[in-house]
Amino acid sequence: MYINKSKIILNIKKLDKTYFSKSKNLTGSIIVPGDKSISQRALIIGLISTGKTVIEDILDSEDVYHTLKAIESLGALVNKKKDLIEINGIGVGNLKTPEKPIYMGNSGTGTRLLLGLVAGSNALVTFYGDQSLSNRPMERVISPLEDMGATIICSKDKKLPITIKGARAKGFIMPINFNLLIPSAQVKSAIIFAALSGRGTSSITEYKKTRNYTEAMLKSRGVAIKIKKIKNKSITLIDGTSLVKAKSIKIPGDPSSAAFLAVAAIITKNSSICIENILHDKFRLNIFSVLKKMGAKIKIIKTNEDKCKIIVKSSNLKNIYLSDNKSSALIDEYPILSIAAACARGYSKMEGLGELRFKESNRFDAIIDGLNKSGVEVKSVKDKIIIKGSKKIKGGCIIDANNDHRIAMCFNILSLVSEEPILIKGNKTIMTSYPNFFNSLISLGANSSVYDG
Ligand code: S3P
Repeated sequence: MYINKSKIILNIKKLDKTYFSKSKNLTGSIIVPGDKSISQRALIIGLISTGKTVIEDILDSEDVYHTLKAIESLGALVNKKKDLIEINGIGVGNLKTPEKPIYMGNSGTGTRLLLGLVAGSNALVTFYGDQSLSNRPMERVISPLEDMGATIICSKDKKLPITIKGARAKGFIMPINFNLLIPSAQVKSAIIFAALSGRGTSSITEYKKTRNYTEAMLKSRGVAIKIKKIKNKSITLIDGTSLVKAKSIKIPGDPSSAAFLAVAAIITKNSSICIENILHDKFRLNIFSVLKKMGAKIKIIKTNEDKCKIIVKSSNLKNIYLSDNKSSALIDEYPILSIAAACARGYSKMEGLGELRFKESNRFDAIIDGLNKSGVEVKSVKDKIIIKGSKKIKGGCIIDANNDHRIAMCFNILSLVSEEPILIKGNKTIMTSYPNFFNSLISLGANSSVYDG
């Protein structure tokens, strides 16, 4: 299936009533789907490229589907073929005003990056989203984009729906010198996309590293982007340009999706799995280093320039202390790391988790509530979570996913080892990032059932 909404919807009914129960012997090889961050950027960059972009192995999920629909509304000519997507780009700043508001579903990445892109055009666009996306903070992108000359209309709380009129409609976008105080790749990327239409050079100063795919992909398509490292700061300099050269791309598997399967194998008995075709990016593979420190039997084997396979075996985990200096590298992995910590020996402490409150749900509270309900001792102090690991996880509870795919996936995994199954309300949210999540685990040997009612 390639970005086929009707097929996605077909699976949802069953998915919402599926749960896992105690499992062991997870074995076999599995390929995780394409990286979500790179898939979204490939579409958006395809839209503003000059020429044809061919994308292979794109993540076939709802978030990506919404971004795909959005770039079509903004003027891209898209051809969906069996295993690939072709985009005929329209160049920088030439976006079309869509006929109607654009629905972005659950996708924070798609929305924030496109707000930046529209800011540098002369289009007039309204974005709206599902309940979760409508609750996420947009002030962090609105403020710099307004400074660059975009006109933005939204409610006082600066959340979706947002109507944006690109700065080109009244002249040209102003370059910006921006201090990225919240370590966010989405905010950085929104500013980079807007800066492409700027007259002159914009700069973004980062104090904590965040994923760098926007700058790397644009650079390899001929855009003048420079990165300067000064002590503990990294400054990205972006020159305004009219040309992004089209370049085809094959998307490697998502390390964040792989992390769910890895923890499943680690905490279940007699398991040994191989996760293949994963993006080899040190920054995104940090989660595996943390799991190794906890005692997980993990082997990462580089298979080519940008890919690796990861072999994971059942392991006895010990506790971990994580200070906040790695928090931007682990930001999507804290939920599944909390599951690993719940199954480890001793008390694990994770600091600097404040940003988790602004994800698809308030993940900070969701981790604590979910673990509490599952019978795990957990407490929080300010932005820190402390988890007491245990060999026996009670389970036997219902956890509301609250439109958050990672919360749904991580408690489904805890159900593989809990005494009683953990039921998740709202599994369908997993469609946003990993539609094959259940199939992947079932094919590795996890026990699943479907309940009635
Ligand atoms: C992403 C950046 C991160 C991450 C999200 C994807 C991206 O968000 O949590 O899942 O693709 O740029 P923030 O930039 O808000 O930290």
